[in-house]
Amino acid sequence: MSKYWNERVHKLEPYVPGEQPKDKRYIKLNTNENPYPPSPGVLAAIKAAVDDSLRLYPDPEAADLRAALAERFGLSSENIFIGNGSDEVLAFSFMTFFSPDRPVMFADITYSFYKVYANLCLLQADVIPLDDSFKMPVSAFCEPSGGVIIPNPNAPTAQGISIESIRKIIEADPDRVVIIDEAYVNFGGESVVPLVKEYPNLLVVQTLSKFGALAGLRVGFAFGAPELIQGLNRLKNSINSYTIDRLALAGAKAAVEDTEYYKRTAEHIIRTREHTIEKLSEMGFKVIPSEANFIFITHPQYDAEALFHQLREKGILVRYFHQPRISNYLRVSIGSDEEMEAFIQAVADLVKA
Ligand SMILES: Cc1ncc(COP(=O)(O)O)c(C=O)c1O
Repeated sequence: MSKYWNERVHKLEPYVPGEQPKDKRYIKLNTNENPYPPSPGVLAAIKAAVDDSLRLYPDPEAADLRAALAERFGLSSENIFIGNGSDEVLAFSFMTFFSPDRPVMFADITYSFYKVYANLCLLQADVIPLDDSFKMPVSAFCEPSGGVIIPNPNAPTAQGISIESIRKIIEADPDRVVIIDEAYVNFGGESVVPLVKEYPNLLVVQTLSKFGALAGLRVGFAFGAPELIQGLNRLKNSINSYTIDRLALAGAKAAVEDTEYYKRTAEHIIRTREHTIEKLSEMGFKVIPSEANFIFITHPQYDAEALFHQLREKGILVRYFHQPRISNYLRVSIGSDEEMEAFIQAVADLVKA
């Protein structure tokens, strides 16, 4: 607390990102990064962009990147907004589409940044409890509200929601914006990007941080009707017109054009995920069905928080949330085959001990 902070900053409850310790080399299974490198084309494009033109501002419209995305998704550039990571796109969306007079709906167990944004924007939250098997209760999300945000698949549970359910939620009230956060959709989920042509109140948010193996580049997208995209641009151009630097624009465009490489790495990650689930199930773990590059696990006989600390001592980082309903669960990112073998072995040793 400081006398120099204004009241708004005093009241903030900032997000706490997954730890990035530097004391030794860890196997990092705590922030859902991609264990494989970006495609060779991406690295070449970024290197080629390192030249004298860095003295010039980047394109504030990100026109080339939007055109590449429009081509890939069968949309028009007017349907696309680019941000500095999808966190920025989500923050701008909260500021653009939701108002303090009507609550925004999100699940009790979901991406914890939503609560932070709601708080930042002085919004009321209508928190919807997931059902006992951590599924989204669709009918509750169809009740009146000032807006909805749902990740598909959800984080940290990894479970998806069907397109039909999303349609119901969108159609329940055409006057409110429904945001579907598809950060992890490329690991087995079904995208609703094609629905933006049908519904003027649907905004779909994606990122290059997970599927695109570019968490370090910070690029996220929103897809929606031109009216929604124009709103996001009004907001962005009232804060910072140049959110995406030249290197990020070059690398992101190459990533969007190199779908084949990324499909292969995602398929590999899915295979590793299924193998990991099999091994953990043999040890008596309950694993929530996963459509993501991470799994959410619990064991009836072992304390998740203790396991988290013991794994950390063995140099393996996973994510533990000190939160009601999930305080005996661990979220584990799917790493490379070698990393997951080390994780499985470490867990087996701990469980035996
Ligand atoms: C559900 C969800 N949405 C959005 C993000 C933000 O991703 P980024 O800002 O790296 O694009 C994350 C990151 O972990 C996430 O889990």
